[in-house]
Amino acid sequence: MSDATQGRAGGLLTSTIALKIAMAVSGAAFAGFVLFHMVGNLQIFSGQEAYNDYAAFLQGLGGLLWVARIGLLALIGIHVASAVTLWSRNRAARPEEYRRTETLRTSTSARLMLETGLIVVFFVVYHLLHFTVGAVHPEHYGVLDPLGRPDIFGNLVRSFQDPLIAGAYIVGNVALASHLSHALTSMFSTLGLAVGRFRRPAELVGPTFAIVVLVGNLSMPIACLLGIVQVEVTTP
Ligand code: HEM
Repeated sequence: MSDATQGRAGGLLTSTIALKIAMAVSGAAFAGFVLFHMVGNLQIFSGQEAYNDYAAFLQGLGGLLWVARIGLLALIGIHVASAVTLWSRNRAARPEEYRRTETLRTSTSARLMLETGLIVVFFVVYHLLHFTVGAVHPEHYGVLDPLGRPDIFGNLVRSFQDPLIAGAYIVGNVALASHLSHALTSMFSTLGLAVGRFRRPAELVGPTFAIVVLVGNLSMPIACLLGIVQVEVTTP
C-alpha cells in the first residue's frame, strides 16, 4: 500500500471514530434531555395548576429557554448528520448485503436502529408542531387557564383523549425506547467503557433507561385515554 493510500485510509478511520464519538455524545446528551423532560411532564399527575406552574416556569426562563432549544436542535442535527454519513460510508464499503448469518447475534433493537431513528425524527417534528407551534391540532392550542396562563395541561389532556393522537405518541415513544435501548449500550462500547467487569453493567444501562422512559412517557397518554387524568377547570 502506498503512503498516500495509507494516509487516506488512516484519515477515514480517524474521521469515522470522530463521527461515532460525536454520535454517542450528542445522543447521550439528548437522552439526558428526554429523562428531564419526562420527569417534568409527570407533573400532569399533580393536576392543572401544578403542571401549568411548571410550564410557566419554563417559559419564564426566556433567553435561557432559547439557548436550550437551539442546543437541542444542534444535538439532533449533529446526531442525524453523523448517523447518515456513517451509514452511507458503511454501504459504500459493503455494496452487497451480507447473507443471513450477519444478523443472527444482534438484537431486534440493534437491527431496527435506522427505522426507529427515522420514526423518532418524524415524532419530534410532529411533537413540536403540536405543542410548541400549535400548527397541528390547533383546536387544543392557545386556550388560557383560570389564571390567564397558557393552559398547556388542558392542551395535553384534551389531545391525549383523542385515540389517534395518543396512538401517535405511543408509537413514537415505543420507537424511541427501542432506539435508546441499543444506542446507550453501544455508546459505552464506542467510548471504550464496556470492557472487563464493566461489560455486563454497560449492557444493562440501555434497556433499563429505555424501560424507565417508556413507562413514564406512556403513562401520560394512557392515563388521559382512560380518564384517570381529566381537565378540571376550563375558562368560560
Ligand atoms: C408523553 C410524552 C411527552 C409529553 C407529554 C411531552 C410534552 C411536551 C410539551 C407540553 C411541550 C411544550 C412545552 C411548552 O411549550 O411549554 C414539549 C416540548 C418539547 N418536547 Fe415533549 N413531551 C413528551 C415526549 C417527548 C419526547 C419523547 C421527546 C423527544 C424525543 C420530546 C421532545 C420535546 C422537545 C424537543 C420540545 C421542545 C422544547 C421547547 O420548545 O421548549 N418530548 N413536550
